[in-house]
Amino acid sequence: MVNEYWGLSKKPFSNTPDLSFLYNSDEFEEGYARLLYNITEIRGGLTLVTGEIGSGKTYLANALKENLKRQNNLPFIIRNPKLSSTQLIKIILQKLGVEEIPRFKLKVLNSLEETLLDLNRKNITVIGLIDEAQILSLDALREIRLLLNLETAEEKLLHLVLLGQPELKNKIDKVPQLKQRVNVRFHLEPLSRKESQSYIKHRLKVAGAKNEIFEQKSLETLYTISKGIPRVINNIAQNALFVGATENLQKIPPDVIESVAADLEI
Ligand SMILES: Nc1ncnc2c1ncn2[C@@H]1O[C@H](COP(=O)(O)OP(=O)(O)OP(=O)(O)O)[C@@H](O)[C@H]1O
Ligand SMILES: [Mg+2]
Repeated sequence: MVNEYWGLSKKPFSNTPDLSFLYNSDEFEEGYARLLYNITEIRGGLTLVTGEIGSGKTYLANALKENLKRQNNLPFIIRNPKLSSTQLIKIILQKLGVEEIPRFKLKVLNSLEETLLDLNRKNITVIGLIDEAQILSLDALREIRLLLNLETAEEKLLHLVLLGQPELKNKIDKVPQLKQRVNVRFHLEPLSRKESQSYIKHRLKVAGAKNEIFEQKSLETLYTISKGIPRVINNIAQNALFVGATENLQKIPPDVIESVAADLEI
């Protein structure tokens, strides 16, 4: 009913990984380009991406995976890395398509090295994106350092990108040998005032909007309240569309944004 009221063909502000809504903010584009460069050109090993809650890290990881899939790469995402070091390697093996995963650590490690060497011979680059990396245990972080040592005479066998909330930095700093291996660090900043407005307009357009739905002042208010965090913008905007439709409004005024945000306790 909400979509119909506003003449939309799909929900414009769902917090889903739907990449058709991708908005290339300066930050997003820069992060994306640097990650891609580090993986495909420098082939450095370890990239660190941090960002506040809801800033778009998971979305960035998904976009990157989609892009990498098209070339001679094997990208995978580990989304819940609350794992012991052995479990971590087992999951990687699983993601690489290994069917028979050994039980004990030594064999698991051997199997990983063989698999990676085999893929390397086939000229396939393996890229692991570890999301929510701030929850990795110290044990798993140390293991990651060892995994990064796997290499041929010419190149690394495994490229890793760790994405996480800002406290991830402190965690990495506690493992100096890992810290030293980070060759690109990137912090995903929230959207700027101008970008927040383009972000909203972009999403509405992708969802099929033909007319302006938010008053200009509402876009400003949305930025002030959300501080440019995409997930917060989505939540407020989606609710505002609902209120606007139930109240039969032509356009959404700023006081609707404010009351919706208050209801959401933002
Ligand atoms: N560049 C973008 N283009 C379009 N939508 C985006 C973009 N960045 C973020 N979003 C939207 O914001 C939502 C929240 O982003 P995401 O889940 O990636 O945040 P996060 O940084 O991973 O948060 P958390 O720290 O809670 O894991 C996404 O589901 C997506 O809908
Ligand atoms: Mg996330």
